[in-house]
Amino acid sequence: MDIETVKQRAGPREFSPRDDLPREYREAATRMLEFHANSEIMGAFLERPFIRRAPSLERKMAFSAKVQDEIGHGQMLYRAAEALGVKSREEMLEDLANGDGKFLNCFHYPMEEYVETPMIAFFVDGAAMRRQATLKRSSWEPYAHAMDKICFEEGMHVKHGESILRELTNGSRREQEMVQAAFEEWWPRILQFFGPTDDQSTHHDFMAEVGLKTCSNDELRNSFLNQYMQKARDYGLEIPEYPRIRDTGDGTYEVAEEDLDWDEFFTVSQNEYEGSIEQISGRRQAQEAVTWVRELFDDQATTGTPEPRAAD
Ligand SMILES: [Fe+2]
Ligand SMILES: [Fe+2]
Repeated sequence: MDIETVKQRAGPREFSPRDDLPREYREAATRMLEFHANSEIMGAFLERPFIRRAPSLERKMAFSAKVQDEIGHGQMLYRAAEALGVKSREEMLEDLANGDGKFLNCFHYPMEEYVETPMIAFFVDGAAMRRQATLKRSSWEPYAHAMDKICFEEGMHVKHGESILRELTNGSRREQEMVQAAFEEWWPRILQFFGPTDDQSTHHDFMAEVGLKTCSNDELRNSFLNQYMQKARDYGLEIPEYPRIRDTGDGTYEVAEEDLDWDEFFTVSQNEYEGSIEQISGRRQAQEAVTWVRELFDDQATTGTPEPRAAD
């Protein structure tokens, strides 16, 4: 199939591994899926310490389940990416550990305090839900299919994050101040979650033409902003003065994009931010710690797993 035919046929769940797709499509889809899969893994990595550090057994169990879900999302997405025939799952994991793999801006920043956890579990997962719901209509069928399961689980993550946020914002004065400070620190990064404004986004047009993306960065950012700004206020959080939020006059709001630090965003996207290096080296160590398991499986794959012996 040539690229013009792809553009004509592009529609929800239109293409599958049975189709002979042009390299241009397969590479673009691989880049998008690999970025998404890497982000799931790196997000889980940031939340993992809170399995121990959360203040109650219930919260520890919820973090444990969430971390497992996110790793599962990553693995599913690596498989959906691998089916495009451009890169293997091992290569993608290797690139992530080497610092060549790219991932979401929010997961480059350290998360040290428990009060910060709803910034990811409520706001970032809420933003992820916004984007992922639109990807159920992606033209790469394995991607859209993975979204059915992933969106269901993300819904639970947002509830978990919201429950922590509710508890903290109804807690002591000190807890309320700490969660407000965390919100002020994370809010601009969260608004950058959807990437640069459409005219700065290098890949947007092609991705839309071939049906890989069904909404633009601006549409998603504004729809998230309009929903979550109100939610933040409902929990007593004060929206920081910067970036400025403008009333568009028709009952909706938009962010003044020039108030966001895009230089920092692009440094982060290239894995060159100081936090990036720390997160990636943590990921590499986690991968090296299980090298022996990989080797064991590789050995079994080449020498064959012993047949189970019949009972005497
Ligand atoms: Fe996820
Ligand atoms: Fe999640």
